[in-house]
Amino acid sequence: MNEKILVTGGAGFLGSHLCDRLIKEGRDVLCVDNFYTGSKVNVAQLMGNPQFEMMRHDVTFPLYVEVDKIYNLACPASPVHYQFDPVQTTKTSVHGAINMLGLAKRVKARILQASTSEVYGDPEIHPQPESYWGRVNTIGIRSCYDEGKRCAETLFFDYYRQHNLEIKVMRIFNTYGPRMHPKDGRVVSNFIVQALKGEDITMYGDGQQTRSFCYVDDLIEGMFRLMESPADFTGPVNIGNPSEFTMLELAEKVIKLTGSSSNIVFCPLPQDDPRQRQPDISLAKDSLGWTPKVSLEDGLSRTIEYFRKIVCV
Ligand SMILES: NC(=O)c1ccc[n+]([C@@H]2O[C@H](COP(=O)([O-])OP(=O)(O)OC[C@H]3O[C@@H](n4cnc5c(N)ncnc54)[C@H](O)[C@@H]3O)[C@@H](O)[C@H]2O)c1
Repeated sequence: MNEKILVTGGAGFLGSHLCDRLIKEGRDVLCVDNFYTGSKVNVAQLMGNPQFEMMRHDVTFPLYVEVDKIYNLACPASPVHYQFDPVQTTKTSVHGAINMLGLAKRVKARILQASTSEVYGDPEIHPQPESYWGRVNTIGIRSCYDEGKRCAETLFFDYYRQHNLEIKVMRIFNTYGPRMHPKDGRVVSNFIVQALKGEDITMYGDGQQTRSFCYVDDLIEGMFRLMESPADFTGPVNIGNPSEFTMLELAEKVIKLTGSSSNIVFCPLPQDDPRQRQPDISLAKDSLGWTPKVSLEDGLSRTIEYFRKIVCV
């Protein structure tokens, strides 16, 4: 019998790539999504495949299905989307985790949580190892997401200790690639869309703040390896690309690769925006044999190709 895998948030950016990968691995996939930021278009290539099933459902409500493994990705990931309805964002993280952990407990499924580098907040140490507890503002406009994700991690480890659940916690750092939402306000999609439209490129702050970007295929490889890792490996484990770039360097690369004539304009930095974020991926290397393979140039070129099709029509 094929393994049955539940992917919550499966119609989103990362979720849809994960569904593609799981189908390729021969698994039966149940994709659950309320289409808040996701879209059926992201999984259109899988519709009609007998191994793939799509269900409209909000994870803040309980779900009763028979599955062997659960990837819990449901949650809007970009500030524009998660700040639109912050109460719902916390509910999705916290109630969503409780519902999915409850389901995992009932059907004895292994469960993976898509956590985030945001649990480190605005960090005092660089790069961030998993042992760092973070510096997060509890009352800011990003807190609904950051604290929701932190609470979800707590729930995962309490279910692990209290109910012997097989858990995997993955701290995802900035990821980019085809199927990112063109209006999610995240830096890579913003720059590409602006460059393709020949609009000014909006740079928040002086552009000297750094980020590290992981291409989606690398990220999904790490996620799959983590789920398949030995039962006693729970994480949390950082998955991201440690190569750091300033936002100014990124904008210049995007302008070059798109052949755009856009100018860069500078705007004030948003509240609580971290200055620097870089994963320490030693644990992922040692425990999962995982390292990112796709260079920023290659990843950006593939992403630009995708956006050209949806922006320039
Ligand atoms: N992309 C990144 O760089 C990144 C970084 C860190 C963490 N993550 C995490 O990875 C996961 C996926 O992120 P993404 O970039 O694909 O974002 P996304 O917004 O594209 O995907 C999230 C999906 O969850 C769905 N969803 C939202 N609320 C829901 C609810 N209540 N019930 C059911 N479905 C719901 C959305 O419709 C969407 O399809 C998220 O949990 C996010 O926090 C992503």
